[in-house]
Amino acid sequence: MSDKDITRLTIRRPDDWHLHLRDGSMLQAVLPETARHFARAIIMPNLVPPVVTAAQAADYRSRIIAALPQGMDFTPLMTLYLTEGTDPEDVRRAHAAGIATAVKLYPAGATTNSASGVRDFEKVRPVLEAMAEIGMPLCVHGEVTDSDIDIFDREAVFIDKVLKPLRKKVPDLKIVMEHVTTQDAVDYVRDSHKQLAATITTHHLIINRNHILAGGIKPHYYCLPVAKREAHRIALVQAAVSGDKRFFLGTDSAPHTDPAKLQACGCAGIFTAPNTMSCLAEVFEAAGRLKKLESFTSVNGPLFYGLSPNEATITLQKGDPVTYPRHVTTPDGPVTVFDPGFELHWRVED
Ligand code: NCD
Ligand code: ZN
Repeated sequence: MSDKDITRLTIRRPDDWHLHLRDGSMLQAVLPETARHFARAIIMPNLVPPVVTAAQAADYRSRIIAALPQGMDFTPLMTLYLTEGTDPEDVRRAHAAGIATAVKLYPAGATTNSASGVRDFEKVRPVLEAMAEIGMPLCVHGEVTDSDIDIFDREAVFIDKVLKPLRKKVPDLKIVMEHVTTQDAVDYVRDSHKQLAATITTHHLIINRNHILAGGIKPHYYCLPVAKREAHRIALVQAAVSGDKRFFLGTDSAPHTDPAKLQACGCAGIFTAPNTMSCLAEVFEAAGRLKKLESFTSVNGPLFYGLSPNEATITLQKGDPVTYPRHVTTPDGPVTVFDPGFELHWRVED
């Protein structure tokens, strides 16, 4: 059956391997959007202040579970924000107790709320060695932050300057290169045989840098890492639809209110939680690879993390254009939902 004959697709329930849920009223507003379709998600720790210790991760997890609407089944997989002061013993305890699934590395200053990130990688080496020993993955925001490196080159330079040396020093460490945006990153992951995988976001499969900058500046398409030129987007699509086990979905759905985004120095982040599965079905259908959607959203991620894929399923039905709210409401203002720029025909059945 070719893709154009497929109008209904049942897949294992997806997981999101990179998600920002925030806290307080924002958490309340955005959590149901993910929990509706996803069984689990890796929760980013970049709150203010960041989630650094096992105790903080346990508290944050309780707040997420408390915010979950009744009847929704969703498991937050917590991460610890790696700082130069992180205690390897605390990380071991968090992992052993099932409190934290992974550790998150932000190079200091790379993105929203990353000031406490790592400057000197030697300082975190004992933590990374402990993680390698216990098989706990490191999720990496793969951009250098040097002001003399062009923002469009920061991911490629990170691979050479940080990732390659780090993998040499701690070869057994499991690493997820998150939200990859370049052909360089795709090639690097494909050429590595061990312990390295990458997440790809929904929006980086759909937009390139023209969407942000051509014909007027579009703050709702601004995120970090910033979308690159079209050839890179195509490389990402090829990786995502290939079925290669090393690539899986991490939406990086990162809600900010419109007032925070629409200003002279607006925040980075795109909110894709409400329509991600519909967007992805369009991308995979356009590539003639609908049958690989399940690998990308529901199988490859758990395999890398050493977890079982979900037994429950969701069904996508193709039909008339899908309607969904353009905004999610919070007391601090609306959060605009990602606009893919084309009609969506795939609806996730309730
Ligand atoms: C994220 C955020 O808003 O927390 N923003 C983004 O553009 N992706 C941070 C991040 O993951 O880089
Ligand atoms: Zn993120």
